[in-house]
Amino acid sequence: MAKIILIYASMSGNTEEMADAIAAGVREAGEDLTVMEVTDANAADLAGYDGILLGAYTWGDGELPYEFLDFYDDMEDLDLSGTKAAVFGSCDSCYAQVGKAVDILVDRLRELGSEIVQDGLKVELTPSDLDKELCRAFGRNLVNSVVHGTTVQQ
Ligand SMILES: Cc1cc2nc3c(=O)[nH]c(=O)nc-3n(C[C@H](O)[C@H](O)[C@H](O)COP(=O)(O)O)c2cc1C
Repeated sequence: MAKIILIYASMSGNTEEMADAIAAGVREAGEDLTVMEVTDANAADLAGYDGILLGAYTWGDGELPYEFLDFYDDMEDLDLSGTKAAVFGSCDSCYAQVGKAVDILVDRLRELGSEIVQDGLKVELTPSDLDKELCRAFGRNLVNSVVHGTTVQQ
């Protein structure tokens, strides 16, 4: 069975709702999933997983949330080659850098050798029922990529 981990940060609950729906999609697809808030997670553990899902809201002027900063720094020397990954987060299009935290984490994972298997999923504020369906599909797609080698984007 593939090992998949989902790590997220959420201040007001929107990214957490996305995480719950994505986790449901992974579990529907029958795979083993570990879910953690980023403040409880160790970056070094990522290398022990086949599939990585990171979730972060965007803060400041297009920045990572403060909860993610230590984790992001600790990722620096990891070798994530052989892993498949995808990133998600709630955002707000009133800001100039919409969902930039998602892009920052995608870039970091790529630098470390992980294969990004689908475009980052950015949801405007609180996920709607349709957004949650997209989140479940996002989780299933990650599983398909890990188990069957499919890629949704590019
Ligand atoms: C001070 C502040 C700065 C923010 N900056 C951005 C930003 O640059 N880009 C963006 O897309 N959203 C920004 N947001 C919006 C949050 O990402 C958005 O409210 C999100 O839904 C919060 O997710 P959460 O409920 O998971 O904490 C900002 C929100 C606050 C309060």
